[in-house]
Amino acid sequence: FMLVLCLSAAEDFDWTKNNHGSFYYGTFPAGFSWGAGGSAYQTEGAWDKDGKGLSIWDVFSHKKGKIQLNDTGDSSCEGYYKIKDDISLMKDLRLNHYRFSIAWPRIIPTGIKSDHVNEKGIQYYDELIDHLLESNITPIVTLYHWDLPQVLQEKYGGWQNISMVNHFNDFANLCFEKFGDRVKHWITFNNPWSVAVEGYETGEHAPGMRLRGNGAYRAAHHIIKAHAKVWHTYDTQWREKQKGLVGVSLSGDWGEPVDISNQKDIEAAERYVQFYLGWFATPIFHGDYPQVMKDFVGRKSVQQGLGTSRLPTFSPQEKSYIKGTCDFLGIGHFTTRYITHRNDPPGRSSNSYFTDRDLAELVDPRWPDPGSEWLYSVPWGFRRLLNFVKTQYGNPNIYVTENGVSEKMMCTELCDEWRIQYYKDYINEMLKAIRDGVNVKGYTAWSLLDKFEWDEGYSERFGLYYVDFRNKNKPRYPKASVQFYKRVISSNGFPN
Ligand code: NOJ
Repeated sequence: FMLVLCLSAAEDFDWTKNNHGSFYYGTFPAGFSWGAGGSAYQTEGAWDKDGKGLSIWDVFSHKKGKIQLNDTGDSSCEGYYKIKDDISLMKDLRLNHYRFSIAWPRIIPTGIKSDHVNEKGIQYYDELIDHLLESNITPIVTLYHWDLPQVLQEKYGGWQNISMVNHFNDFANLCFEKFGDRVKHWITFNNPWSVAVEGYETGEHAPGMRLRGNGAYRAAHHIIKAHAKVWHTYDTQWREKQKGLVGVSLSGDWGEPVDISNQKDIEAAERYVQFYLGWFATPIFHGDYPQVMKDFVGRKSVQQGLGTSRLPTFSPQEKSYIKGTCDFLGIGHFTTRYITHRNDPPGRSSNSYFTDRDLAELVDPRWPDPGSEWLYSVPWGFRRLLNFVKTQYGNPNIYVTENGVSEKMMCTELCDEWRIQYYKDYINEMLKAIRDGVNVKGYTAWSLLDKFEWDEGYSERFGLYYVDFRNKNKPRYPKASVQFYKRVISSNGFPN
């Protein structure tokens, strides 16, 4: 839910204050890792092949009216059958890393390890990992990119239930056992904000639950515990032998106060970021939820006549167990919002995440927006977010795990100049952030291929490569941005 600011209101304040300044020529630190990414449900297809179990996305996308044009990920890019083809695209780009995710129900069909492990699924990921390594491409592997085994949703209510922590830990442990000799970069969860809010409160994403009250907070609480448990499992059982790293990938769009001379707007913008990135990063780095979340959700809960906050609490033991469970922080960043203070913003039910924040999101009508309702190109917001991470969480190592832009074209459109512009500006702001002292170690263009874009189906295309989904063979064609990204990689930035 978002208001588009009309032009007359836009004249009330100075948009140009955020001009991100001139282009900065320079190169990235030696060893900086350039990559591209995708995720299992978005690219693999083969939804019911070789013993794979159902995921909540299989079930959700098969229901009418949930996805644009009732698209599904049933076949998607057929990535399951195209390991070699896709790796040759990566080689052509000279990627240092490729980010993908493991579909939990592909290797544990019911989600419960003691039920059954699917060897064919293990073989698929073995093959993918081996071919990447043969091509000198480092795999960065996400364990949870949203495709929860359907059985776990049906039996336990999915992330509403604390028992997910152990099931997820069993799955992660199996992945460490099977792939950890070769995979050294693990991401527990991708974008848990979306899982919690869109999966369990707005219902726009699978499992499509519309829980009010504490639905999103509950899901997030269990996810944070599951993340910490998996990190400890790796730390105590695998790290010594496998010498890898375990992180988490959080989405963080930036929030900028509409009026920088208005204290209420400044605080609202800070809240926007704390309720978003901070919701997960603060427990993981500091052991507990952001104070402002505790204050706001607590106060609202009291106003609603509840005896206790809708935001769950961590015990002292849990706090110290969760604190510090992150070897690197993955950041998925796409866009920025202007934020203004608003009591109980309209359009949302009273006991929900969105109302708790007391703010409204606005966009500048002049921000370039090639093809989605939510993604505007605001490069300077990226640098601010990266600097925020540096100061708030003790300057951790960061991998940008997602950054990119979509277009809505349904026909073949390979001249994606707006994407080149977006990448150029965002990568340049990342370079400035590194100059500011932010520890960014790698960058992942999102995404390698056009793919299933969740509730948007195939209508939003993020790929460097165009995929013709109408053709059974799903052929890939390079967009102009491939040449651009290739040049950035080969010169490690923007040498003068
Ligand atoms: C974040 C999600 O992690 C990813 O799967 C999706 O493609 C991008 N957002 C773009 O919407």
